[in-house]
Amino acid sequence: MRHFTSVYDIPDLKKAVEMAREIKKNPYGYQHLGKNKTMVLIFFDSSLRTRLSTQKAAMNLGMNTMVLNVSQDGWSLETELGVVMDGDKPEHLREAIPVIGTYCDVIGVRAFARFESKEDDYREKILQQFIDFAGVPVVSMEAATRHPLQSFADLITIEEFKTKPKPKVVLTWAPHPKALPQAVPNSFVEWMRQTDYELVVTHPEGYELAPEFMGDLKVEYDQNKAFEGADFIYAKNWSAYGEYGKILSKDMNWTVTMEKMKLTNNARFMHCLPVRRNMIVTDEVLDSDRSIVVQEAENRVYSAQTVLKMILEKLV
Ligand code: CP
Repeated sequence: MRHFTSVYDIPDLKKAVEMAREIKKNPYGYQHLGKNKTMVLIFFDSSLRTRLSTQKAAMNLGMNTMVLNVSQDGWSLETELGVVMDGDKPEHLREAIPVIGTYCDVIGVRAFARFESKEDDYREKILQQFIDFAGVPVVSMEAATRHPLQSFADLITIEEFKTKPKPKVVLTWAPHPKALPQAVPNSFVEWMRQTDYELVVTHPEGYELAPEFMGDLKVEYDQNKAFEGADFIYAKNWSAYGEYGKILSKDMNWTVTMEKMKLTNNARFMHCLPVRRNMIVTDEVLDSDRSIVVQEAENRVYSAQTVLKMILEKLV
C-alpha cells in the first residue's frame, strides 16, 4: 500500500481485519518497522479520537510523530491553484505539502468537506494535492467524502461483537443542529458493501447518499421497519448530498431511543463520536450495555496501526 484513502487501498480486507485483531493482542510487536521513521499529522479540522489514536498507532509501531493544527499553528494556507495571493493566506499548499514531505516518511491529513462547492469536495481538492505533491505516502484521517480509518475500526468492532456470520447492520440518519459532511456514512456504506453482511440504510427523503457509494443498495425510508431484527444500529447525521450541504430535517422522531432498539435483535449501538446526546441517541441507549461506542473508538488505534504497518512494510 502506498496511500490510504479508501477501502480499495486494502488488498485483502479479511486478512486486514485478522491483522488488526492480532495487533490488538500484541500492539508492540512491529516496533522495528517504525524505527527512525516519522509521521506528520496535519489537521485542517478538529479532532479528539483521530489525533490521539493515529498518534498512538504510530508510536506503537516505533515511529516519531509531529502534529500540525493548520488553523492554529501554521500559516493560513491557500488551497486554490492559479489564484493571485493578495488575500489573508500567505502560503500555498503547493509549497507547504512538499516541504512537509521532506520532514517525514508518512503524512496523515484531515480535511473535511468545505461545503463551498460539491465538485471540489467530491474531487477531494485538498487530499488530492497531498497525494500529488507530498512525495511520501498519505493517509486520510477523514477527507471530504470518506473517513476510512473510522470505517475500518467499525468493521473490526462488528467482527468482534457479531454473534452470527452475516449480521444485519443498519445505518440510520439521526437529527443534528449543524450541517455535517457525508464522509462517515459514505465510507461506512462503502466498507460494509465489501462484506457479506445484510446492510440496510434508512433516512428521511432527500438524504440519499451519492450513487457512487450506494451502488444498487435500496433505501428503507421507514426507520422502524429498518430496525426490525437488526444486530447493529449505526447512527449518524449527515447533510443532504442532492441539495448539497443543506439541513432538510431536524425531525426528532429519528433519534435512536430504547423503544426503537426494542425492535431489533438486541442490537449493539454504534456511533463514530463525537455524539450529540438526546439528538442522535438518547442517554438511555448510550449509557446501556447495548452501546459499544467506546470499544469502537478504541479500535481506531488498531485500524490506524494496521494501515501504517502495511505502508511501512513497503518503505523498509
Ligand atoms: N470519530 C472521529 O473521527 O473522531 P474525531 O473527530 O474526534 O477525530
